[in-house]
Amino acid sequence: MTVYLLKWTFVLLHIITAAAWFGLGLRLAGRARTILDVGGERGAALAEDGGRSVWLMNIFVVLTLVFSLAAFIAGGHFATYGPAYHSAVTLIVLLTLDQLFVIRPGWDALQSALGSGDDAAAESARKKVAIGTGVGHLLWLILLGLMFVDRFGAAL
Ligand code: HEM
Repeated sequence: MTVYLLKWTFVLLHIITAAAWFGLGLRLAGRARTILDVGGERGAALAEDGGRSVWLMNIFVVLTLVFSLAAFIAGGHFATYGPAYHSAVTLIVLLTLDQLFVIRPGWDALQSALGSGDDAAAESARKKVAIGTGVGHLLWLILLGLMFVDRFGAAL
């Protein structure tokens, strides 16, 4: 009973943190473009504000990794769950790496390029953020699909 409650608590928590990551990232690439269009002090202020969203995304992706693995373990790990969940374990690691090693440094590079007035570096950083969030959202949607593979499989 305790393990059951624990599992569903982690399931709920990983859904909430995953949703927070997804929502925070939705406007990131668009915001990066606006920052380059606006430029100057306004652009720098917008970039700083975006940096706070990226910071929250770092936290939410790590929490999603922790809570999803906790749900997976509490639910019976590899003995209970099949290939869909095994793939999910791999994909959440990739999503975390994407956030921490593509999106976050991309945004940092955007901010420093704005500070130094290097337009080419700012444009390349914007592209890195756009690719990072695009790939991240795609991974996230595949993960959501994987959550229901067993349920749909059982219904067919
Ligand atoms: C990041 C995107 C993710 C989203 C949006 C998501 C969403 C969901 C949803 C909506 C459910 C409820 C499904 C149902 O009851 O039919 C669920 C369950 C679950 N998820 Fe995720 N999930 C994500 C990632 C992960 C990852 C990476 C794992 C790790 C393997 C994981 C492990 C689990 C487990 C163990 C359950 C409970 C399954 C059961 O015993 O019925 N999730 N998830």
